[in-house]
Amino acid sequence: MSAKSYSEVVDEIRSRLDILDVVQSRVVLKKRGANYWGCCPFHNEKTPSFCVSPQKGIFKCFGCGEGGDAITFLMKINNESFTEVIKDLALQFGIELPSVKGDTKQFTEEKQQIKDLLKKAGDYFYSNLFSSPEVKNAMEYLQKRGITKDIIDEYKLGYSLKGYTELQKHFKSEYIPQIMEKAGLTVKSEKGEDIDRFRGRIMIPIRDEAGNIIAFGARAVETAQNPKYLNSPDTVLYNKSRILYGIDKAKSKMIEDDFVVIMEGYFDVISAQAAGLKNAVASCGTALTVDHVKLIAKYSKSRKIYLAFDTDAAGLKATQRSTDVIKEAFTGLGNLKIFDQNYSSLSDDKYTCEIRVVAPFDSKDPDEYIREYGIEEYKKYIKNAPLLLDFELSQILKDYNPDFSPTDKLKLVKKIMPLIEEIPNNLIQNEYIKLISDKIDVDESALIREVNRSKMFKTVDKQSTKKFIKLVSNRCKFFRYQLLARKYKRY
Ligand code: CTP
Ligand code: MN
Repeated sequence: MSAKSYSEVVDEIRSRLDILDVVQSRVVLKKRGANYWGCCPFHNEKTPSFCVSPQKGIFKCFGCGEGGDAITFLMKINNESFTEVIKDLALQFGIELPSVKGDTKQFTEEKQQIKDLLKKAGDYFYSNLFSSPEVKNAMEYLQKRGITKDIIDEYKLGYSLKGYTELQKHFKSEYIPQIMEKAGLTVKSEKGEDIDRFRGRIMIPIRDEAGNIIAFGARAVETAQNPKYLNSPDTVLYNKSRILYGIDKAKSKMIEDDFVVIMEGYFDVISAQAAGLKNAVASCGTALTVDHVKLIAKYSKSRKIYLAFDTDAAGLKATQRSTDVIKEAFTGLGNLKIFDQNYSSLSDDKYTCEIRVVAPFDSKDPDEYIREYGIEEYKKYIKNAPLLLDFELSQILKDYNPDFSPTDKLKLVKKIMPLIEEIPNNLIQNEYIKLISDKIDVDESALIREVNRSKMFKTVDKQSTKKFIKLVSNRCKFFRYQLLARKYKRY
């Protein structure tokens, strides 16, 4: 078979590129008619004026004027040249790219080398698990965690030896030291020597959407080993703020089931996926980011997000932080689903996203829960998982006890008020007020008055801000006229 020319390869890449797929990894889009709309990534905006037409294969922003096809989009968003984008895509699609004159960027060759190295490092760590006498404790640990040989194979779990240069010795001089370092596999010692980053740890390969190994998470085996998890640094292939652990296996199930379960750790995802809950992912040693949410939105059309963090204080904080991030990612695109359908006949379509919280009764993390009670029990929790508002309310109301003084009650009401105010529908709002006043034994009408008063303050606030802005801009106009008048007087 004769090799393809550069322009033939570009054509092939163009034909395989799907504009929606490309744009949706960076922009949350909502379908309206034949097109998709979102907030423009090239200028700051809160109401969507950025439009993608899948039929025409183009994007266009009616706010800032940016527009073009999938390749232009990638050039602009990654700030790369045409040839750099083509090289990246060729690599991604596994198409061999003929070199063209003047095409000396070593960047993409380096990426290819790093990708290659990480794959082989994954093979090597995996083989250590079955060949090294040093591995006894690690194997015992995995067995204790219910990690079977099948799971080890499926996730290509491995082990890094304790020595300082074992990995480097394994590769001998196959890779230059700079590539090993750029892949995140070695670090400089205090003496300035290259040493293996991961030593004496269980190795968990982190993969991109296509399933290529792009980084490692590494868990300590001995209790004295610190930190408990050591992760690859960000590299040319790996950006921890963009990738979710387990996405390669989760993505097709996310499309099929239209929901995703976000967990806290690698082993939570492994346990859940291996037991059959495939649409589980986790962020890799970092808090959830807006880019993570965009990645999810690409696969779950109605953006049903289940947060399955721990229910201890740290986990609750993570839940709160994540919901803020999720809301931020969907700013301007529509409402968060606040109440369940049985309360309302409105169609699901009107929501941009739905957040539910999975919190089993005994505060176990998903991994422990699934191992102890089985995946079917866990799925029941998912099925009945409350919407964010209900979860937040129940968390606050949990503190209530009948001995509360009026001041205690007032404190509780103050915590509840912001949640109630967020409910966009008066009827539903009143239903909630009824429930709450019952639960904490306060007068319903007093609670309603509180809500209305606080609403009134807010509208007054908004009105006075508007008035103030108008006043200032009128003043500015007035001064400008005065200046102009003076200028003309001079002539
Ligand atoms: N993590 C990390 N670095 C750490 C600790 C944790 O990157 N030093 C990340 C890892 O992705 C890990 C997740 O946070 O999977 C959860 O870690 P932790 O809260 O310590 O969870 P545990 O359930 O206690 O971890 P394990 O089950 O392995 O004991
Ligand atoms: Mn755990």
